[in-house]
Amino acid sequence: MIPACTRFIERNFSKSNFLVNLYGLYYKSIVRNEVKLANIKNSDKVLCIGGGPIPSTAIEVVKQTDASVHVIDMDRKAVEYARNVVKRLGLDQKIVVDQARGEEVDISPYNVIHVALQVTPKDKVLNHIWSNCKMGDRIIVRMPKKGLRHFYSNVTEGFINRYSHYIKFSSPRLNANTLDKILLMVKG
Ligand SMILES: C[S@@+](CC[C@H](N)C(=O)[O-])C[C@H]1O[C@@H](n2cnc3c(N)ncnc32)[C@H](O)[C@@H]1O
Repeated sequence: MIPACTRFIERNFSKSNFLVNLYGLYYKSIVRNEVKLANIKNSDKVLCIGGGPIPSTAIEVVKQTDASVHVIDMDRKAVEYARNVVKRLGLDQKIVVDQARGEEVDISPYNVIHVALQVTPKDKVLNHIWSNCKMGDRIIVRMPKKGLRHFYSNVTEGFINRYSHYIKFSSPRLNANTLDKILLMVKG
C-alpha cells in the first residue's frame, strides 16, 4: 500500500517544479544526516538505488555535496518521470537516471551506495552490494519504523548480526514519520 501511494504521489507531483520542491522538503534533513554519517563529499561517486519518479534523495545529495549521482530504478515509468524532473531542474550534468535493478547493477564505479526505504528484495540487494563492493565503500540503508516494517522489505537480523563489525547506526531525530534508523556499512 505504501509503495503504491508513494508511486501515485511522486508521479503526479513530478509534473510541477513547485510540488517537486515541496516534496523534497521531507528529504532535506534525512539526507543531511546521511551525508554527515557517510561523510559524502563532492569527489564521491554516488549510486542511489530506487530513485522513484521524483529522485529527491539524489537531488538533495547534489545540492548538499555537489557529488555526481547515478540513480537507478527498476520501473521504466519512474525512470521517465525522474529524467524529466532532473532535466527541468537543470541537474542533468550531475544526476543520470537509468533503468536497472539494485540486485544486479554493476557497483564498481561507485564508492557510496544509497538504498531507498522501498527497495525490494533488501536481502538480495544488500548481499549483491556487499559481495561486490570495494574496501572503503560506504553503503547507506534506510530502515523503517518498527510498526511499519511489514509494509517494506527489510534487512534481516541475520544480515545485521553477520556484518555487525561493519555496521554503524544513526538514530537522529529524523523528523520523518516512516524512518527509524539509517544504517551505514563500510567495507573494511
Ligand atoms: C517510490 S521510490 C522512493 C524514493 C525517493 N523518491 C527518494 O528519492 O529516495 C522507491 C522506488 O524504488 C524502486 N525499487 C524498488 N526496488 C528496487 C530494486 N530492487 N532495484 C531498483 N529499484 C527498485 C521502485 O520502483 C520505486 O520507484
